[in-house]
Amino acid sequence: MDVLILGANGFIGSHLTQRILADTDWKVFALDLGSDRLEFCLDDKRVRFLEGDIAINHEWIEYHVRRADVCLPLVAIATPAAYVRDPLAVFRLDFEENLRIVRQCLKYDTRVIFPSTSEVYGMCDDEQFDEFASPLVCGPVTKTRWIYSCAKQLLDRVIIAMGRDEGLRYTLFRPFNWIGSGLDSIDEAKEGSSRVVTQFLGHLLREEPITLVDGGSQRRCFTHVDDGIEALMRILHNEGGACDAQIFNIGNPDNDHSIKELAETMVRVLADFPGYEKRAANARIVERSAESYYGAEYQDIVHRVPSIKNAGDVLGWTPKVDFEDAVRRTIAAHVVAQ
Ligand code: UGA
Repeated sequence: MDVLILGANGFIGSHLTQRILADTDWKVFALDLGSDRLEFCLDDKRVRFLEGDIAINHEWIEYHVRRADVCLPLVAIATPAAYVRDPLAVFRLDFEENLRIVRQCLKYDTRVIFPSTSEVYGMCDDEQFDEFASPLVCGPVTKTRWIYSCAKQLLDRVIIAMGRDEGLRYTLFRPFNWIGSGLDSIDEAKEGSSRVVTQFLGHLLREEPITLVDGGSQRRCFTHVDDGIEALMRILHNEGGACDAQIFNIGNPDNDHSIKELAETMVRVLADFPGYEKRAANARIVERSAESYYGAEYQDIVHRVPSIKNAGDVLGWTPKVDFEDAVRRTIAAHVVAQ
């Protein structure tokens, strides 16, 4: 099978490429702006990598969409501070550029596995979010934070309509706070430059205070990337076409923790790594309002738990890595790499 991964050097793309090369005989056509996370495979005969931009390298992309059996368009801005700072960049990249790719998949009858997001559920009140029943709840249009959620939601809807009315072959998957090595750049010191786990780890390693936004009572289900990639591999295999026209939440409902608990766990686990005891002992946790951290156009999501019944029924998938182990593995990947 030939797999096209746009954004192969990203968090999900690089882990997926590694797993495909280890476990299958598939070929990978890969595009990204950089290749630092793909160094392990750049000389592999089964990988064809182009250092490029989905907004520029249109011909290369169209050629490979046509050639590939399946396409994963994984290029997107996915850090909440950016939704507030530059909503139009999010719209252009996450929506417009990706729509072009989806249209090409339709044109060449290439199967698309599209990354939707846990964020589409927004401020949904349901105890567990269900792909086929939960309402998707966004705040007012003046709160630019929601442009990512909204752009992804509209693309989900376009993809589903193209599937129903024009024959697009698709599967949507919704990662719920996947964490692991390579989730953002650990060296970005600026607050809000990374998602929370990388942000906290960078602060801890540089001996800067960790900031709990609004006290850190908001909760997330932290899912280890290895569990996420296992689900994606099952989607790629698509046995008996079971994943066609499907939507899957991919998250770990048992790893539901507050951001405060995340901070405390990270400090505790860091202390177990030889040479890092002092940094853990010196860790400081401070609090700040969301408005001062992100700006007035931000709103938070208080709780977010996936129902993974559909992934269990169709893919036979359940997550295996518990919260503390997920945190430990994520820290280990960074401190060993230091
Ligand atoms: C993320 C991003 O929108 C996407 O990467 C993705 O689609 C989705 O979640 C996902 O992975 O499921 P969110 O969980 O809000 O959204 O992003 P984080 O930046 O990781 O923030 C998590 C929570 O930590 C938020 O409540 C935020 O206010 C808080 N936070 C963040 C802090 O308390 N302190 C910080 O320094 C940073």
